[in-house]
Amino acid sequence: MNDTRAYLNGQFLPLSQARVPVLDRGFLFGDGVYEVIPAYGGRLFRLDQHLERLENSLRAIRLEPPLTRAQWREILTELLDGAADQAVYLQVTRGVAPKRDHAFPPVVEPTVLAWAFAIGTAAPAPAKAITHEDIRWQWCHIKAITLLANVLLRQEATERGCQEAILIRDGRITEGAASNVFAVVDGVIVTPAKGPHLLPGVTRDLILELARELALPCQERDLDAAELARAEEIWLSSSTRELVPVVELDGEAVGDSRPGPLWRRLYRAFQDYKRRFREQAP
Ligand code: PDD
Repeated sequence: MNDTRAYLNGQFLPLSQARVPVLDRGFLFGDGVYEVIPAYGGRLFRLDQHLERLENSLRAIRLEPPLTRAQWREILTELLDGAADQAVYLQVTRGVAPKRDHAFPPVVEPTVLAWAFAIGTAAPAPAKAITHEDIRWQWCHIKAITLLANVLLRQEATERGCQEAILIRDGRITEGAASNVFAVVDGVIVTPAKGPHLLPGVTRDLILELARELALPCQERDLDAAELARAEEIWLSSSTRELVPVVELDGEAVGDSRPGPLWRRLYRAFQDYKRRFREQAP
């Protein structure tokens, strides 16, 4: 960890030496947004989509983007360690205010922090999940650093021997504590439609793109908890875990308790897509 290179407010330095004042609004209020961007072969994957979502998150919390897309690209690429599979964590907070006050401070520089970390290269292990009431706020389309509910939900899953909590709001699936959810229902790939109650996942969009290229039937629509309970397959998508098959939900087998055939096809398509991406030298 010590020699991980970080970027903090215009400077590169070791992550272990990066310091933020305690009056930073990210620390006091969770007043900030973030992104997690994977990189393969030394290239940031789906960078434009991640930066577009970052700009949307910033706009939603009324912060001006502190850097241009070209500047983000340059800084984040600089943090990568050769061609290893990595992801960059990037966060922007409203900055250090002169005093603790909920309302925005009059003038303040946002705090920008980023560093890269290794991500797994092996195929994901099949996962177990629980379902849980979605106890989060109403603006889950913003990738806010304010993640206490997500933390508690993931911890609940962990303590019950599972890897993810799949969230239910008003009888409908929204997403996982840190992932988007897909289910295969009567042979059709279903994922909840975008809206304020879920994060518009970059991996989610790519999975839909690949499914459509393979001419697999898919729908973006409401997904009932009852449909999830009888789904033939369930998958979780995220930038760090790609596409994970869920083989047990609330202690019950999903399908025949093994990753399903549609997961295998999409996982393979995802790996092929990554291989082509790696081969396209910058
Ligand atoms: N989380 N939904 C939530 C609540 C998430 O936190 C994430 C990702 C996703 C998937 O989005 P994407 O495919 O763009 O990574 C959906 C990241 C990886 C994290 O918090 O570490």
